[in-house]
Amino acid sequence: MTTPSKTELQYTGKAKNVYGTTDPDLVWIEFTDGATAFNGVKRAQVRDKGEVNARLSAIIFERLDASGVPTHLASTPSPTVHICHRVQIIPVEVVVRNIAAGSLSKRLGIAEGTALDRPLVEFFYKSDALDDPLVNDDHALLFGWAQAWELAYLRHAALEVNDFLRAFWDEFDLTLVDFKLEFGRALAPDRRGQILLADEITPDGSRLWEKGTQRRFDKDVFRRDLGDLGDTYRELFRRVFGQRLHAG
Ligand code: TMP
Ligand code: ASP
Repeated sequence: MTTPSKTELQYTGKAKNVYGTTDPDLVWIEFTDGATAFNGVKRAQVRDKGEVNARLSAIIFERLDASGVPTHLASTPSPTVHICHRVQIIPVEVVVRNIAAGSLSKRLGIAEGTALDRPLVEFFYKSDALDDPLVNDDHALLFGWAQAWELAYLRHAALEVNDFLRAFWDEFDLTLVDFKLEFGRALAPDRRGQILLADEITPDGSRLWEKGTQRRFDKDVFRRDLGDLGDTYRELFRRVFGQRLHAG
């Protein structure tokens, strides 16, 4: 594939900017060093975060594609850029949990760290204005956010991604506590209707606990002021890629 060029800015996100490209079916997504928490209430710039997240998400998406979970990633022209198939994002965020933490612990009074007997799949309505409320299938169907077959696919694919990610992080002595996925409907005529895993899989949207020490290797370090997020992400990068982000 010849790499298309970046065109106009289309959307500014909390940690990514989305541009058009010279190919109408592809978008140019730039990962930035922006860090936010609590729906943008807490903000910082964290050096190297964009590059660590872009490179981690790229190898994970490449391996998922290879193992049969189609993603929006088309190519990576530079360390902080993903060129992606244009999608219409399904406004249902899918969270998979293996261990109780975060909003599940708060909502249901289940102690953080409690192992779940099987993975729990939760849906959240993607709305910054409403702070992404928890919803169920019936809300999604009634309000037209997704069709029944799409919800079935989201649940099935999310559990497959969970199996993959648990094994992936296990290799680096990390326990996958939970993570969030977003999916989209491909818009290119030759792919129309296909559901693609979209957005990103990074420690911003996952919880990763080091086995034994329980040290956090995810954005909870920033949310909860547990240490330096940049150092944490650079250390995660070193473990996964076997080399420092900035050699020397
Ligand atoms: P939660 O426990 O706050 O519901 O979060 C569950 C997982 O989803 C956790 O790994 C962080 C991720 N997440 C996001 O990616 N974006 C969000 O806006 C929120 C609230 C959580
Ligand atoms: N993603 C949300 C934010 O950036 C919430 C969070 O991750 O805590 O503000």
